[in-house]
Amino acid sequence: MQHQQLIAALPKTELHVHIEGTFEPELMFAIAQRNQVQLPYASVEELKQAYNFHNLQSFLDLYYAGANVLLKEQDFYDLTWAYLEKCQQDHVVHTEIFFDPQTHTDRGVAFATVFNGIYRACQDAKEKLGVSAYLIMSFLRHLSEEAAFETLEQAQPFKDKIIAVGLDSSEVGHPPSKFERVFAEAKKQGYLIVAHAGEEGPPDYVWQALDLLHVNRIDHGVRSEEDPQLVQRLFEEKMPLTVCPLSNLKLCVVDDMAKHNIKRLLHKGLKVTVNSDDPAYFGGYMNDNFIAITQALDLSTQDLKQLAINSFEASFLPDAQKMAWINKIQAL
Ligand code: ADE
Ligand code: ZN
Repeated sequence: MQHQQLIAALPKTELHVHIEGTFEPELMFAIAQRNQVQLPYASVEELKQAYNFHNLQSFLDLYYAGANVLLKEQDFYDLTWAYLEKCQQDHVVHTEIFFDPQTHTDRGVAFATVFNGIYRACQDAKEKLGVSAYLIMSFLRHLSEEAAFETLEQAQPFKDKIIAVGLDSSEVGHPPSKFERVFAEAKKQGYLIVAHAGEEGPPDYVWQALDLLHVNRIDHGVRSEEDPQLVQRLFEEKMPLTVCPLSNLKLCVVDDMAKHNIKRLLHKGLKVTVNSDDPAYFGGYMNDNFIAITQALDLSTQDLKQLAINSFEASFLPDAQKMAWINKIQAL
């Protein structure tokens, strides 16, 4: 099988995608118009021309501005539904989606409005698209510990529908230690734990995510490679890293895809997975990410299958479901 055909045929899970980062310019303009919100761009083309990032913050500024047009439950439904259709096209059979409630509640949109729109789309996708989804509530790390505690409180009525809590937004200057108490409380309440660490931040932030937040997965983690003892720890604990190749390229975490470390980390036996992060902004969904690294790093059939297997092993699906999908991958 050609690599491109294999990528399309492999069942996959996505473990690192921000729903606000799947907001395609065309849908953004349509929702802005129906909500009578003015975007600071005259056209879809002008907006796309602004997608010229040099680091994480330059992206986040546009990402939060784009999210401003989301006001009603139907807006969150339409956003999520459009992403879940992309999953079906890419044979992503299961996805674990981040949502950032504070991006919306800070603008006066109710938590329930955000949550119900996203959740209803996920329920419909299970039935109509054959794609399953779990939801991960992420705290914005540039905001305070107190604000994160308030968000955890607001999530209480929806607790059984949220699998995990996460940590995202501006990394440098906002270490995991800032949220140690919030994550301890979330764990006590039964949430699984993930955190962005080692994207732009140093390996020390990955150590903190492991030792202070007690994460089940590290989001990104690519800078872990700078610290051999950390690589050894990640290996021994079979700790998943949700790597996002096109994101790393667009945000200048790497300056050339041929220099990306995902293949080296995979060959060291780390549980790395492929993900799209903010696909509407970074030029591609799941299969685009697979194709980009396959071409730049000359990945083998076995590498591709291992990445797909890792995505199931690192997911929060029940073991029986993981095994059923992994058997299908091995039979390809
Ligand atoms: N929010 C959306 N995308 C993000 C990323 N790549 N890193 C941190 N926060 C984010
Ligand atoms: Zn991310």
